[in-house]
Amino acid sequence: MSRIDQETVNKILDAADIVDVVGDFVQLKKSGANYIGLCPFHNERTPSFSVSKSKGLCKCFSCGKGGSAVGFLMELEQLSYVEALKYLAKKYNIEVKEHEMTDAEREMATERESLFAVNTFALEEFEHNLLEEPDGRDIGLSYFRERGISDAAIKRFRLGYSLDRRDALLQAAKSKGYDEKYLITTGLCIKNDNGQVYDRFKGRVMYPVFTVSGKVVAFGGRTLRSDKNVAKYVNSPESLIYTKSNELYGLYQAKQAIVRKNKCILVEGYMDVISMSQSGIENVVASSGTSLTEGQIRLLHRFSENVTVIYDSDAAGIKASLRGIDMLLSEGLKVKVLLLPDGDDPDSFAQSHTLEEIEAYIAENETDFIRFKTKILLEGAENDPIQRAAVITDIVKSISFIPDQISQLVYIGECSRILQIDEKVLKLEVEKRISQRAEAELKSPHNTQTPDQDAHKAAVDYGTSMADPRDRRAAVSGKAFQLLVSCEMNLLRYVLKYGMVDFCDVMNEDGQTVPLKLIDYVNDELEADNIELVSEAVKSVFEAVKVQVSQYWAEDEATFMADLDKRREAFWQQGQNEIQQTAVDLTDIKKKEIALKEECDNMYASECERFTTDYLESRLASSADDNVRRLTTELVSEKYQLSKVYSKYSKVETERDRLIDLVPKAIATLKEAHITVLLAEERERLINLDKTQPGYAEAAAECLQQIDTYTRLRMELARNLGVRVIVPRR
Ligand code: UTP
Ligand code: MN
Repeated sequence: MSRIDQETVNKILDAADIVDVVGDFVQLKKSGANYIGLCPFHNERTPSFSVSKSKGLCKCFSCGKGGSAVGFLMELEQLSYVEALKYLAKKYNIEVKEHEMTDAEREMATERESLFAVNTFALEEFEHNLLEEPDGRDIGLSYFRERGISDAAIKRFRLGYSLDRRDALLQAAKSKGYDEKYLITTGLCIKNDNGQVYDRFKGRVMYPVFTVSGKVVAFGGRTLRSDKNVAKYVNSPESLIYTKSNELYGLYQAKQAIVRKNKCILVEGYMDVISMSQSGIENVVASSGTSLTEGQIRLLHRFSENVTVIYDSDAAGIKASLRGIDMLLSEGLKVKVLLLPDGDDPDSFAQSHTLEEIEAYIAENETDFIRFKTKILLEGAENDPIQRAAVITDIVKSISFIPDQISQLVYIGECSRILQIDEKVLKLEVEKRISQRAEAELKSPHNTQTPDQDAHKAAVDYGTSMADPRDRRAAVSGKAFQLLVSCEMNLLRYVLKYGMVDFCDVMNEDGQTVPLKLIDYVNDELEADNIELVSEAVKSVFEAVKVQVSQYWAEDEATFMADLDKRREAFWQQGQNEIQQTAVDLTDIKKKEIALKEECDNMYASECERFTTDYLESRLASSADDNVRRLTTELVSEKYQLSKVYSKYSKVETERDRLIDLVPKAIATLKEAHITVLLAEERERLINLDKTQPGYAEAAAECLQQIDTYTRLRMELARNLGVRVIVPRR
């Protein structure tokens, strides 16, 4: 949750001028109502990055990236939501009040802060040892020099040395007032059974592990002894601030290069990262020896969807690690594989080649993962039918993990050629795999994924498509489901774009006609028929809309209106002054005053209209919730593509003018989709009834009755009769 209070957040969001914010990174030129410039997210020569001042949104029409001011900063600078807000607050000189924490929150925060503080102290201590202490220089620094690590790399990765004494760090920390207990919980020190406390990393060179935002959460320490009984690496244990499976070594140093090159290179060890990086290949991270976790993959995916995994070339290692890569595929990453020459690891390869040589080697040798896997597995198995079958099963499995259908088809085509198997057969096998997995997931009593993971997954995917991975399970169980989701997206789009607009007039209890907002109309309609949204992503945005309307709208509107009143007053005054100076006689004054009043009213009306139409989309496009922010941006940004076309033929009716037709239709379509699903279910039930059972006739009659009802309902809807009769506003 955001630690900045809502009032300040609003102030910041209101102050942020998208043109101004983007302008700090991109040279913008005015083009019609919008501004354009070269997209900062990808390399291009002709500008396709468009910024809409009035919408407060930016978007690249070529790569699709963009968003609100906050979203833009988060994406470009790889900031968290709160970091982005703080950036804006600083830019606009807004004082940030952190909200009052509860006792429990404060305790937690203090504990976290204490852990970070000790780690930072240790980091500086280790660095100091390496560079200033005689022992550190003689042992640690000379080791790094021997391994060809430059001073610049030592500084960049903040390498260090832990003195070879029982409790040197502990004593140093205590003398600076750090509490022993935090040294133990971070794992810098260990308390043995006798209650003695000593340094975990004594006599080791130190590799600090940073979070994406650069906080030190853990350390790896390498021994300098060749004694086989001493563990080569010792790593920090997990703690309140360190979850091993959520961090990647080197990401903090690599993230900008990863975004710039839109590619991440994945290696195994600390030294691989450091050596590659100092050679000039900076987009490198390591999973630190263990196999990749889902958390790490998602972290990576935030920065790029292209991953090249580097293997050293021992064949046993390759086959074992192929498995882990299916996970990369299923997260939608595009995976390539690079084999190094015999006997090399990334560290030794980087140390013995120039940057040009390394880059050329990568370019020439990286292979698409599935192609690579097919070839490796097929080696020696070509003539053995049983082995061949096993290979095919394996490849089919990998392909089935790719979430994108088009890529799937491409691979099926290619593998059918390499494996010399009919494409149709492969395709069938892949589909079988997918539905088997979907079924297994359906049957498992607990959904294995936490909502949080799901939300993240969904958010990640919106960058490329509208498909909602959380719905994958159900999506494979029928086309109808896809239809439901797209109907819901469509409806949500209207809500986001026009939710606060007065949509139609309805009669209240006292018999007066009152305006009904579009959002209320939609909610009433959904509630009247008990319609549950099936897409979790859509549902969460709908919820966010409700919160925005019920908690913030009234106050935000009041603030806006008060301000607008003032502006109108000022506008009127200024006009009056001009009239005083220019009018020739009384009739002229009267004429000019009438014109001025009309101008005032127009200004007032169009500002109101702008505020109401932009309200939901601009607020939600800056939401702290990743899913809400991204889905909103995605859905509303179509708008100015559309309006671009419309504006050329300015007499053409806009979507805004046709809401009274479009929205009821969108709701009717959604309802129809629901009935289609119900109908299919009922038919399924009918088919599966057991004719030999006693109650068969009754059960069948009941099914038929239901089918009949649904069919009728559907016809009614199709004729648009199911929709409440409404009075269009004039
Ligand atoms: P390596 O043995 O390849 O490490 O293990 P390295 O980084 O190349 O180290 P050098 O070149 O021998 O100095 C790869 C990674 O596996 C983890 C470490 O993260 C290491 O970087 N590892 C390895 C451990 O955590 N513990 C071990 O005992 C060995
Ligand atoms: Mn090594």
